[in-house]
Amino acid sequence: MSIQILGTGAYLPEKTVTNDDLAQMVETSDEWIMQRVGIRERRVSVNETTAEMAEKAARNALDAAGLEPEALDLIIAATVSSDSICPSLSARVQMMLGAHCPAFDLNSACSGFLFALDTAAAFIARGGYQHVLVIGAERLSRVLDWTDRSTCVIFGDGSGAFVVAPGEQLLASRIYTQGNDSALSISAGQNNSPFFARELAPYKVVMNGQETFKFAVRRLEEDIKLLCAQAGITPEQLDWIVPHQANTRIIDLCARRLKLPIEKFYMNIERCGNTSSASVPISFDELARSGKLKKGDLIAMSAFGGGLSSAGCIIKW
Ligand code: UT7
Repeated sequence: MSIQILGTGAYLPEKTVTNDDLAQMVETSDEWIMQRVGIRERRVSVNETTAEMAEKAARNALDAAGLEPEALDLIIAATVSSDSICPSLSARVQMMLGAHCPAFDLNSACSGFLFALDTAAAFIARGGYQHVLVIGAERLSRVLDWTDRSTCVIFGDGSGAFVVAPGEQLLASRIYTQGNDSALSISAGQNNSPFFARELAPYKVVMNGQETFKFAVRRLEEDIKLLCAQAGITPEQLDWIVPHQANTRIIDLCARRLKLPIEKFYMNIERCGNTSSASVPISFDELARSGKLKKGDLIAMSAFGGGLSSAGCIIKW
């Protein structure tokens, strides 16, 4: 049994932070960020929590699906910037929506939403789950080192969500992990134990950009090829690719390696930056609402990030 997407939703906080704004804070420029990353501006929360942003995306997805929160059988949320370790982000969203189903979080950094979608498909295949809410939500601005120009210019806040149900749209799905703690990490930070004698890294994003870049290019290309093989199609047959919005150069390289026109890759990185686990569902929601998707379109979603991890799927619209 496969799944279908009943509705999608997204939410971006109101405040826009431009590259010029960041150039007032660290030694950088609009020119460097546009050329090396492809971001012009990103949204940053000034008064909304991760859960509040997640709730808004979830309500938009429920509205699109024509469902009330009581209809949900399960909520899975992916995040690396939850408001609390306990309760989980998904439990907070369950409470805020007034839903009554089980809810749990899953962390696979920027690949988290597609890990969660794969998990939702597994629960649906098991039976007994009709409507599953899958969320990717991040307030990365709280985890960034705003004095580190190599990371603070890259990320943004936002949330995205899908409501999925049993159906026939999911043609392929895969998840991948290559454990590595030097390329990209966010330490859990503070240690309260008077017995633990070791220093812990501070709570902030630390990234080896080039190592992560190389992993990303390799994974994006290979995952899309493997997903196409699983679905019994060739990459040329894909109508759209919705990639993780980490760097336009990563997406350009992938398009060239796969010999696909760049126009097939949906991009909002210039406006949103990298919103980690929210990046793919926000992008997919924008594409779905743009009216550009036709019935029967083959769409690959592909993400990569901390872990190191990657994940992807192919949907027949
Ligand atoms: O979502 C999670 C997955 N993350 C990713 O996929 C990120 C992958 N990596 C990247 O996108 C790129 O590696 C970055 C955008 C992070 C960095 O671009 P890069 O072309 O790899 O730059 P670099 O790290 O090799 O640094 C080149 C130079 C350095 O200066 P020197 O040592 O050559 O003098 C950096 O200090 O660029 C400098 N630099 C900056 N200059 C102006 C780094 N950040 C900035 C900045 N503004 N914001």
